[in-house]
Amino acid sequence: MMERLTSPPRLMIVSDLDETMVDHHKDPENLALLRFNSLWEDAYRHDSLLVFSTGRAQTMYKKLRKEKPLLTPDVIITSVGTEIAYGNSMVPDDNWVEILNKKWDRGIVQEETSKFPELTLQGETEQRPHKLSFNIDKSKVKAVTKELSQRLEKRGVDVKFIFSGGNAFDVLAKGGGKGQALAYLLKKLKTEGKLPINTLACGDSGNDTELFTIPNVYGVMVSNAQEELLEWYAENAKDNSNIIHASERCASGIIQAIGHFKLGPNLSPRDVSDFLECKADNVNPGHEVVKFFLFYERWRRGEVENCTTYTSSLKASCHPSGVFVHPSGAEKSLRETIDELGKYYGDKKGKKFRVWTDQVLATDTTPGTWIVKLDKWEQTGDERKCCTTTVKFTSKEGEGFVWEHVQQIWSEETEIKDDSNWII
Ligand code: GLC
Ligand code: MG
Repeated sequence: MMERLTSPPRLMIVSDLDETMVDHHKDPENLALLRFNSLWEDAYRHDSLLVFSTGRAQTMYKKLRKEKPLLTPDVIITSVGTEIAYGNSMVPDDNWVEILNKKWDRGIVQEETSKFPELTLQGETEQRPHKLSFNIDKSKVKAVTKELSQRLEKRGVDVKFIFSGGNAFDVLAKGGGKGQALAYLLKKLKTEGKLPINTLACGDSGNDTELFTIPNVYGVMVSNAQEELLEWYAENAKDNSNIIHASERCASGIIQAIGHFKLGPNLSPRDVSDFLECKADNVNPGHEVVKFFLFYERWRRGEVENCTTYTSSLKASCHPSGVFVHPSGAEKSLRETIDELGKYYGDKKGKKFRVWTDQVLATDTTPGTWIVKLDKWEQTGDERKCCTTTVKFTSKEGEGFVWEHVQQIWSEETEIKDDSNWII
């Protein structure tokens, strides 16, 4: 697991998705999430770990990924901490399954819960091997929990009940839950010599409570946190200075917490208005790529000034014989590509147009040369496309990075009917 990390991760973020990473109500343009994404790719991707821990099962998680600009996490924990999977191909953790099987009998739980008319079964996709999920009226939670736990105890089954979002009632295998899954992950990382230097848990509702009980883990409850989580906090953790209730919503609350606990950089490149003035530390060429594609978004949205200062400075950082290989296979000079960009100034003005980068990773194979690989996403309206992009940079001592070569291929997730409007 996590082969790309050669030393302990600097930061591990373990975040819930719905109403924590993703704001379903107050941010139709996903600006907070996009701010987080840029910060993560710019400053953390190369030496840190991103973990999503959601109540959704994998099917519903994949659906959300299609709807929202979510980054690709290193680890995905689904179904309220009952399923753990690693990497892009989501390799399941079978060992975790073994642990959950202890004193668990799904059939008995199904039989007993079906006797409660207060419990309405949720959709088929959310019923999982170690999780049964229902909807319930808030006023019935106490009584049902009491009665059901007595019955299950008699039948020798160990379970855990979780009430979330004011109406969801999950029955999990005792060893499951977001907290236990996190504890398991931390233990596993420790065994591999990769225990994160800092870990930050982020959540908004009842099923996130456990995340805030794991030792040595910072916690942020986003400003829009649900009543049941805030009640738990008031009763159990209000003196714990390692947990904060952010004043900002969702992903902005996470950025706020990074700053509050001093876990590393907390200035998202999206909050920097003039890139020309922001001189990079010249250590990570991934930064150049994140910055460029943000500029590209702003250029086409017509949000930066239409002046040649920008394009000239960009051209100056491209090697004179640098080549851009378009996903269609066509080749152009890099400098020409930048010139062409000039024509597209403001063509997406007033449109729902966003660009974001995912999995930006730089490798330095030979001294002075870097290969940066990333997924570049572009969304116009409801249509989105992704290109796997490879950039070769060179840098001489004391000078900036030079773009030598850019190559793009359509990612598997992208269906292309017409690639003529893809510029770079
Ligand atoms: C997610 C799941 C649902 C669960 C809820 C609370 O919404 O889809 O099954 O009940 O989280 O944990
Ligand atoms: Mg949530």
